[in-house]
Amino acid sequence: MAKMAASVLDNSEDAFRKIFKFYKRRDLPPDFRDVTDFCSGAAGEKIVPVKLNPAAVRDGDAVSVGLKPIRDWRAFSLQGYPGFIFISNPFLRGSQAYWVRQCLKTYPQKPNVCNLDMHMPLSDTQDIWGRSAQVLRFASSEKRQAKTLLEKLRWVTLGYHYNWDTKTYSANHFTPFPSDLHALSFRITAACGFPGFSSEAAILNYYRSDSSLGIHVDESELDHSWPLLSLSFGQSAIFLLGGPRKQDPPTAMFIHSGDVMLMSGPSRLLYHAVPRIVPAPQERAAVLEDFSSASSLQEGSMLEAVAEEDWAVCSRYIQSSRVNVTVRQVLGPGQSFPEMPPISVQRSDEGRTDGYHNESADGDRWKRKRSCSGSDSVGTKET
Ligand code: SIN
Repeated sequence: MAKMAASVLDNSEDAFRKIFKFYKRRDLPPDFRDVTDFCSGAAGEKIVPVKLNPAAVRDGDAVSVGLKPIRDWRAFSLQGYPGFIFISNPFLRGSQAYWVRQCLKTYPQKPNVCNLDMHMPLSDTQDIWGRSAQVLRFASSEKRQAKTLLEKLRWVTLGYHYNWDTKTYSANHFTPFPSDLHALSFRITAACGFPGFSSEAAILNYYRSDSSLGIHVDESELDHSWPLLSLSFGQSAIFLLGGPRKQDPPTAMFIHSGDVMLMSGPSRLLYHAVPRIVPAPQERAAVLEDFSSASSLQEGSMLEAVAEEDWAVCSRYIQSSRVNVTVRQVLGPGQSFPEMPPISVQRSDEGRTDGYHNESADGDRWKRKRSCSGSDSVGTKET
């Protein structure tokens, strides 16, 4: 570990928290010397290339969801983190545009649930895209006072909707999981050695350039033998992957647009966090300018072309933002939820206690609870 990051560990208590603050701080120029970058191709001391089984998914099935054939993926493991797999952008050129459009236009639609539902009547959150697109298409945020609903979006849940208050999923708060996202998740997890994955819940996190995500473990799923799948689009992030104890020092790594991570086996329940969003490097920024016109879609593709006017909105949004999707299988074979009383969606933020905050320095502060018994609260008071 380079001197700079090592120096923050002098007082060894809660090393994760100190490193989190080291990367989050804005009063000094950032020091990224210790950040592992899988995309640069330079094999860092801990990076180990992994050969995935190219026969696990047929080429046509990979291509149909916008993925390269598996033999062309660059996959890695990380020494000291068994079960952790990092795939450096396995998407075909132009196909990320489809997934970005789904995350911004389709998945926030009802009946899916989002942070805005907690504060606004249904009539306001019914058409987040429609109420934001015109404004975003024509005026950059510097030229406007008010934020669009899309810019206020912080999370969306799909499938079994995570209840931030009880930190549980339940049988009676479920809406159908999007079939395209399941097809993508099924194929990626199969390629990584987990055939038969059932996408039952997802959390989409929407990060502005000054957002962060606190230290937590995703443990509310009832079966942890299935991997946690993570997909990232837009600007890059520093991701911290820690150990099974909150105080274990984490490894910092860059996640760029299109990168995919799997946390499985002994890595399934590791503490992790996102202290900082960083601008995409030039070569990845170019990927973000591609959009999937009908002519660039491969034959047999399940993806629809993104309309040019939709892409104008998406590309403006992701110039300064990042979207992360984590897909989870909640139940094991034959497993069911324990009996619970019917839940009601809380429509006010009163009485919500924080697991952690994802916060924008511009005052657009938002709070959320996570599936973590040992979550760490990251807020203005502490940082
Ligand atoms: C990420 O944004 O990369 C991580 C999201 C999460 O841990 O839920």
